[in-house]
Amino acid sequence: MTVRQGRQMRSMCKGLVLGTFLTSCMILVYCLSSSQVHFSLPEVPVPYSCAHRPSQMHPKLSTNSSLQTAGQTCTPTADIMFMKTHKTASSTFLNLLFRFGEKYQLKFAFPSSRNDFFYPSLFQRSQVKDYRPGMCFNIICNHMRFNAAEVAKLLPLDTSYITILRDPAELFESSFHYFGRLVPFTWKIPGEDKLTEFLRDPHYYFDPEGYNSFYLKNLLFFDFGLDNTLELDDPRVEEGIRFITERFQLVMLVEYFEESLILLKNALCWEMDDLLFFKLNARKGSTVSKLTPELRARALEWNAVDWKLYQHFNQTFWKKVDVYGCRRMAEDVAELRRRNAEMASICIEGGHAVDAGSIQETDMQPWQPIGEKSIMGYNMKKNVDKAHRKLCRKMLMPELQYLTELGVNLWITKLWGRVRDIINW
Ligand SMILES: *[C@@H]1O[C@H](CO)[C@@H](O)[C@H](O)[C@H]1NC(C)=O
Ligand SMILES: *[C@@H]1O[C@H](CO)[C@@H](O)[C@H](O)[C@H]1NC(C)=O
Repeated sequence: MTVRQGRQMRSMCKGLVLGTFLTSCMILVYCLSSSQVHFSLPEVPVPYSCAHRPSQMHPKLSTNSSLQTAGQTCTPTADIMFMKTHKTASSTFLNLLFRFGEKYQLKFAFPSSRNDFFYPSLFQRSQVKDYRPGMCFNIICNHMRFNAAEVAKLLPLDTSYITILRDPAELFESSFHYFGRLVPFTWKIPGEDKLTEFLRDPHYYFDPEGYNSFYLKNLLFFDFGLDNTLELDDPRVEEGIRFITERFQLVMLVEYFEESLILLKNALCWEMDDLLFFKLNARKGSTVSKLTPELRARALEWNAVDWKLYQHFNQTFWKKVDVYGCRRMAEDVAELRRRNAEMASICIEGGHAVDAGSIQETDMQPWQPIGEKSIMGYNMKKNVDKAHRKLCRKMLMPELQYLTELGVNLWITKLWGRVRDIINW
């Protein structure tokens, strides 16, 4: 047998094993999710607030914001719905929420057995780990397909709804890279540069009924539980945008992540300490856009509904910054950057992220997209002083490891990872 034939055999075997495994997974997931949908839960009114033991929330003197008069105290908001959209730096934000939750001993509504709420099916509160009607939860933040009515039956009335958007052209590129292989119709796209070929004639390749096709068109709109295949002039697009505007207090932007955090701090009465972060789950070379101006234009045209959504919230974002004060914003962002840089020099070996292959501890290995090792991670310094060790560790910890530490059993996700390790995919 020649080397070439051997390779072909190997890849065929890989395909067979994978196919069988994926099918079993789908059946399993289907059984699990459908068995949950069948019993209907009693309707118990949710409480007004789940901010337990308010004395623990350390009321503090408010900063001199335009919304709060000086001298008044405010209490950090503890009841939070974070709608985690895909490929939007949301792993970085989740890390920050996990730390905030631990600091104030808040109760998270986590999924069970995996790290999302059976995405892409719409969220059901029965998917929450150990859920019983009438229970109090403070924070929900794992991936879900948003379902406002069902979320409202889970979280208290004073919950702050927060989300984050990203430029749809960049998001599309990232999603294509990360999820493209999970979308069967991409398998038949010829050539090395599938993204360019797809954007050359997306209507030819795209199959709206195709398995996982939502990853490759208006993914933001889809994540919010809306129809991602609407034409731009469909009135339901405007309606969808209005619905998000009314439901969410704060819509952050990836491109202005620090500014977003400062607005969050202002809206939820947090402290600067709560905003410290390292960029997690970043892709190698992701600081520069991989799109030429022409491809970018095509990607925006293809994701026109998301583009409209993004432009709308870009406008409201800058209005909020105006109200906050541009100068004050610039100062606060500079302070946050300075503090983050200080933490990086305390915690991170070499001061920056490294390739997966150079990460020494398995605990610090981030989850990789199928077929590659493009997501970077960190090595923690060995000699971090005792005062910072715990914080450094938590700030650097990838999402799945942190979820495990918070008591989420991720057996489905982990099994899937094992199988990928074995077949080296
Ligand atoms: C606080 O806000 C008031 C207006 O509400 C303003 O007159 C005052 O200068 C501000 N103080 C500081 C320290 O920014
Ligand atoms: C977002 O808004 C700012 C300020 O209005 C504007 O300068 C910028 O071009 C907008 N960006 C997009 C992508 O629309």
